[in-house]
Amino acid sequence: MSSFLEVKNRVLSKRDRSSRGRIDQHAVTICSLINSRPEYYTTSSCSGRFHLYRGVGNKSDNADTKKSLGKGEGGFDRFRIHHGFIKDGEEARRYFNLETLEEDPEGGGDKIVEVDQYENLDVGEGDGEGEGEGEGEGEGECECEGDGEEEEEEEEEDSPQQPPPQSHPSIPSIPLTFNESSLIWLRYESFILHVCAISLPAADALMSAARRAGYKTVGVQSSGATSKVDGKVIVQILGDEFLETPLFSTPGYSEILAKMVNDRQRRNWDKIGRFEREVKGMVYEEGRGGRKHYDVVGDVAVVKDVEVGGGEGERVGVEIMESNSKIKVVAVQNDSLSGVQKRSNLTIVAGNHSRMGKDGGLVTTHQEFGIKCLVDLNRTFFTARMGPERIRLCNCVSRGENVLSLFSGVGLEGLMIAGRREISGMTFVEINPVAVNCLRRGLELLGRNKAVVVKGGGMAAKERVKILEGDALAILSDLSDEAFDRIIAPRPKEGGKDGDLSDGIAGAEFLKAMLPKLKERGEVHWYDFAADHEVEGGCERTKKGVEDVVGEMGWRTEWLHAGKAGSGSIAKRQFRVCVDFRVHKKD
Ligand SMILES: C[S@@+](CC[C@H](N)C(=O)[O-])C[C@H]1O[C@@H](n2cnc3c(N)ncnc32)[C@H](O)[C@@H]1O
Repeated sequence: MSSFLEVKNRVLSKRDRSSRGRIDQHAVTICSLINSRPEYYTTSSCSGRFHLYRGVGNKSDNADTKKSLGKGEGGFDRFRIHHGFIKDGEEARRYFNLETLEEDPEGGGDKIVEVDQYENLDVGEGDGEGEGEGEGEGEGECECEGDGEEEEEEEEEDSPQQPPPQSHPSIPSIPLTFNESSLIWLRYESFILHVCAISLPAADALMSAARRAGYKTVGVQSSGATSKVDGKVIVQILGDEFLETPLFSTPGYSEILAKMVNDRQRRNWDKIGRFEREVKGMVYEEGRGGRKHYDVVGDVAVVKDVEVGGGEGERVGVEIMESNSKIKVVAVQNDSLSGVQKRSNLTIVAGNHSRMGKDGGLVTTHQEFGIKCLVDLNRTFFTARMGPERIRLCNCVSRGENVLSLFSGVGLEGLMIAGRREISGMTFVEINPVAVNCLRRGLELLGRNKAVVVKGGGMAAKERVKILEGDALAILSDLSDEAFDRIIAPRPKEGGKDGDLSDGIAGAEFLKAMLPKLKERGEVHWYDFAADHEVEGGCERTKKGVEDVVGEMGWRTEWLHAGKAGSGSIAKRQFRVCVDFRVHKKD
């Protein structure tokens, strides 16, 4: 029987088979929060959407109906899938204009992604995955497109537009001349999430959090009683907003419908926000012993606040090794990270002491969700506590993007994106030669990694990567303008300029140098350091600093996310935070 963690790693490292190749923007944070807890992993999600459709039933009926009627006839067709909201009357008239369905298939809704290099990608079909996890699991994160068997089953059960059985004696058929299957309908569906929990008590804890957030349709879909996998309880959380109506060309009707979907979408997103807060505050922890807390990077356990001499270090080291057979070395970190390049000062207290090289290097291979990287724990910056943040970043990336990973260190976030997302390019920038060397070796590992899920495997992913060694400011000045769809910038600390007592905008120089490299409507993940009260207040100081710089350049900031980056603090009541924003250069 596979362990829960093994299955979680396997499921979360699978290729996302949704058409956009990513989790919906408004579901990224809640999925990351859930996945950062050892007791859960998400198996599919949709943040809430509306679309137009023609036909009877739902998407899963399509193949069968078309088969029985012949190619091109009948079936169920969906148009203009939209995960956002409609801004104004002009957008409403465009979206609900039924005359232009053919020539304007997006209608202002989600971009229909067409990336040349992936034009033959068989999105939505099996790709040899799913080693016995079964029951709709591992279908990719977003169940918005092509996947999510569970949701399709749900649609069949609940779908209110299913025609009553014609033969039922008590329901007379009303003779009408129009053909229902030729009507175009609007359907709004709210948030849906499927989560696998390690146990029934863990499932209960999550369902209680969802109910406190206001979700009423919450339940266990499968108890795991017959599962081949250790602890497989599937929880479904379903938003309550819904709307379904046939469309007619009546003047003013578009604006009314737009208001209706917008109101539902806003209530739906508010509820997701409440759910995020509830999950953050969840106290449930599956049976943890009273052992000293330690971080695991590869086969090394790193423990803090332990005396190296006097036998304490050795005692703690042996206890950790006995409790976890995968750990080969235990090292104590008592100093804080030093220098711009954030080197540690580790002392091995248990395990193979010769692992510390003469050059002071302590090297290990670390793996997260199937993607590996090489880390020199003593001479580069790396923390396993950023694991949930790396997954969150990866989930923000859409198919076809060109990504810039600044201050990349050993590069796990970028390697994960290159190995799990169908991007067009990834450029790493890092100043520390030891980190760059680790990154080059990590890239070799990516090239050989059978777990890489993008088309063409590890070799194709590797070929899309470029590594630039040196100072970010100097390198940025050589890169072309408007080259990147997304920039990831976990900037280094800047002493007095950082934190709530700062006397300036830390990292402003980097921000000014990187923003011109972003495409119109490109997105940035900008990291800062903030006190606990600032995090609770929504990182306003960090946001203001960013808005000032973006404004100076004559552009507009659209906020997408603000919150703690990863788990744990960097010092007492001090946190690394990340704000995500989109830059509008033209409006
Ligand atoms: C906070 S670490 C982030 C590392 C990695 N992205 C992570 O999150 O694990 C910052 C990294 O920026 C690098 N760095 C510092 N100053 C830099 C500069 N001027 N140009 C490029 N890289 C720099 C450091 O060597 C370090 O690896």
